Amino acid sequence: MNYICALKNTLNILKTTRNLVLFAVIPLLFALILPSCAENGTTVTETETETEIITETETEAEAETIPAIETETGPDTAAETEEETTADVTAEPETAAETTVEETTGEQTTEAETTTPPVTETEAETTKAYENALGFKADLSAYEKYMEPEDKDGYLLLVNPDHPLSKDYKPSDLTYIKDKREGRNDRLCLYAAKALEALVKEASENGCKKLASVSAYRPYNTQKYIFDTDVEKLMQQGYSKEEAIAIERKDTAYPGESEHQSGLAVDVLGDGMRLYEFEGTYEADWLAENAWKFGFIIRYPKDKEEITTYVYEPWHIRYVGRYHAKRIYDTGMCLEEYIEYLANNE
Ligand code: DAL
Ligand code: ZN
Repeated sequence: MNYICALKNTLNILKTTRNLVLFAVIPLLFALILPSCAENGTTVTETETETEIITETETEAEAETIPAIETETGPDTAAETEEETTADVTAEPETAAETTVEETTGEQTTEAETTTPPVTETEAETTKAYENALGFKADLSAYEKYMEPEDKDGYLLLVNPDHPLSKDYKPSDLTYIKDKREGRNDRLCLYAAKALEALVKEASENGCKKLASVSAYRPYNTQKYIFDTDVEKLMQQGYSKEEAIAIERKDTAYPGESEHQSGLAVDVLGDGMRLYEFEGTYEADWLAENAWKFGFIIRYPKDKEEITTYVYEPWHIRYVGRYHAKRIYDTGMCLEEYIEYLANNE
């Protein structure tokens, strides 16, 4: 009996322990462990979500940045380049292109930074500085190569009584002049003709009455006709032939001795003016001060008559190219003095 009672008691204890484990310990353990597991699970999920958000944000940034730049450099650039060619307009697409390559590939950025922009900027700066120095109001960029020829010593031909041209001398590149007095058909050597065009444009921008050629290239026979006719008139006034020739040679070159035959000299006057009216006018003063910028010199200055042998001719300009024209203007030499100076010093 005691044995049976002891067995029953043991079974009851085991049942109680099982119930305790089932209904108390296990729930307690769940209560303690699960929140921790739940916490870990949420962290993973949030981290993944945050990663996704970050990725989306980067993608959005790219999506906003790159297409915006592509739009700037695409159609706009093409349109500007086709429609306009000024330095300012060119600079804009280049800046946009530079931004694009910076934000896409390093390789392209390096290329863009080390080549195109610096060259363009340098050219633009040089042109600007140059235009400022000369103070041109007209856009004469297309005439630049004519005003300052690459062959800077190619236009120093000296023509005077001591250095005449042969009767059949004729330049090979005679070109019709755009700005000539009505009814005339004047020609000059190509570079002189184009430089004169630039001069007339700038003169107009500076308030001069329209300057125009009244005489340019003159063949030997034309010069002879002018000279002989004038001598004849003087003789009709009572001068002997020798006297008439001596007087005439002060303002008209003997045939073969005129640089009009060289195609490098031109007589210019304001609209409607006559030769004797030109001296002292605004146009004559402007020409004297500015002709060098276009490659011309006043060939027969007032104070050089003893050397040139001709009286002052404010209308007669001679093309030598800007390099030498500037030096002649700056030094105040006439062409005879300058060529002698070059022979002795350079
Ligand atoms: N009047 C200049 C000197 C000429 O005839 O060439
Ligand atoms: Zn002349």
